[in-house]
Amino acid sequence: MRVHELETPAVLIDLDVMERNLARMAEYCRRHGLALRPHTKTHKIPELAHRQMASGASGITVAKLGEAEVMIQAGLTDVLIAYPIVGREKAARLAALAERASLTVSLDSEEAARDISRSAQERGVRVGLLVELDIGFRRCGVQRPDEAVTLARLIHDLPNVDFRGLMFYPGHFMVPEPERRQLLEDANTRLRRFYDAFERAGLSIGVVSGGSTPTAFISHEFLGVTEIRPGMYIFNDRTMVGLGVARPEDCALSILVTVVSTSVSGRAIVDGGSKTFSTDRYRAGDGRGFGLVREDPEAEVEALSEEHGHLDISRSSRRYRVGERLTIIPNHVCTVMNLHDEVYGIRGDQVEAVWRVAARGRVR
Ligand SMILES: Cc1ncc(COP(=O)(O)O)c(C=O)c1O
Repeated sequence: MRVHELETPAVLIDLDVMERNLARMAEYCRRHGLALRPHTKTHKIPELAHRQMASGASGITVAKLGEAEVMIQAGLTDVLIAYPIVGREKAARLAALAERASLTVSLDSEEAARDISRSAQERGVRVGLLVELDIGFRRCGVQRPDEAVTLARLIHDLPNVDFRGLMFYPGHFMVPEPERRQLLEDANTRLRRFYDAFERAGLSIGVVSGGSTPTAFISHEFLGVTEIRPGMYIFNDRTMVGLGVARPEDCALSILVTVVSTSVSGRAIVDGGSKTFSTDRYRAGDGRGFGLVREDPEAEVEALSEEHGHLDISRSSRRYRVGERLTIIPNHVCTVMNLHDEVYGIRGDQVEAVWRVAARGRVR
């Protein structure tokens, strides 16, 4: 099949660009002796997780148990759930999965640790645990070094769980480069305090799992990090370009749309809105707009109705025609993937692969 034969809207993945992104990250990790554990919540496609494994990943990351179930069913065997698993029902599902794969979970509470330990014991399995630290994002993660040590000691004492190390997520680094430098210094000050407390307590730390896409290529500057979990790097998006983390030519994912109306002056309307692009905001620059039109940098994706994308073309010299097609890089690739049943892997005008987004909607 050819790209021009696809019905729109359609999510296109440029395979040459994606493969370059995968190879670049794998090479960076090899050079710095870091394990790579890509976050697969970005694409939610087991075939792509297998590609990441084939290009040097040591395991994968997921956010939700439902994603882990899909990935393990598809033959992925080493999974980190970088999300607190809380409650008996979830702990029971986790223990069932641990019969089929090597599982690690990050957490920041005694409650979560006890529930997982109990379910793992009932099922006769073992689950690895990482204590999550907050290094400034203020979402999850224990705040103080003594709390981290207390939780690690508890994990040592609980049956059927293994203390594997520490984890943090630098989500607050979604800011321009000069600010990221300062945040890195602050993060390292905090990490040093945590490591010192573990040393004083005589507890050894195995893994230190960190990383994200904006910080991926400075991961070696975070003290003590042994593995990283970037997700978006496989595709990149408009926000990554705006933050200076990627160039437009590093964006593998774009959405193929058709112009369906040009009746209103200064406007072109395309056949994808919030149910195609998601309404995640642009987290760089002036924060405006919902996408980058590859064919016309002067156009602004100004607004999204559910099924209409509103392009402001009043400053553009390009002539728009009903029926023509455009490709738009969205603000945030992860939420786009969760909206689509299938996506298309392309090389030039050739559609090489059609992938089902098997873990879309798996939010439990
Ligand atoms: C815990 C955790 N680790 C890793 C990632 C991946 O980071 P990024 O989305 O910047 O690639 C995320 C993203 O939300 C995350 O929440």
